[in-house]
Amino acid sequence: MRTDRTFAMLKPDSVEKGFIGAILEKITTSGFKIVAMKLTQMTKADAESFYDVHRERPFYLELIEYITRGPIVAAILEKENAVEDFRTLIGATNPTEAAEGTIRKLFAESIGENAVHGSDSNENAAVECTFHFSGREMF
Ligand code: RTP
Ligand code: MG
Repeated sequence: MRTDRTFAMLKPDSVEKGFIGAILEKITTSGFKIVAMKLTQMTKADAESFYDVHRERPFYLELIEYITRGPIVAAILEKENAVEDFRTLIGATNPTEAAEGTIRKLFAESIGENAVHGSDSNENAAVECTFHFSGREMF
């Protein structure tokens, strides 16, 4: 299991607000190399599979609606200790609790619409990368 890659998503709110460039700049200047990237839109079935762990949570339907409402930027990022370092860079789920300088502090609206996703384990990173990208799209 590799430990130097994570899956990142710029969620629909980031794309709608024109934050793609600013967020990507923050990611690359923080030492992450982009090794795969595309603008795509998740179907309802994609989102239900991606967020299956939250199926029983009260915010689940809202989450599916939000994440499917428009295009997202999907990317694979490479850096030593990628999963943990990217979670640090994005900040807490709730932007009001996110540390200064984190992506969610800078760009997120609320706990529900929080700008970015980052994998939470090396195992999930591997699953999420292959969910969005074929071998020939990863560099
Ligand atoms: P993500 O998976 O998107 O990187 O976010 P996370 O690990 O920080 O948070 P997680 O607990 O996995 O929640 C997934 C996404 O569900 C939405 N959410 N809404 N309204 C709410 O209380 C609530 N809680 C979570 C957010 O979009 C969150 O990122
Ligand atoms: Mg999560």
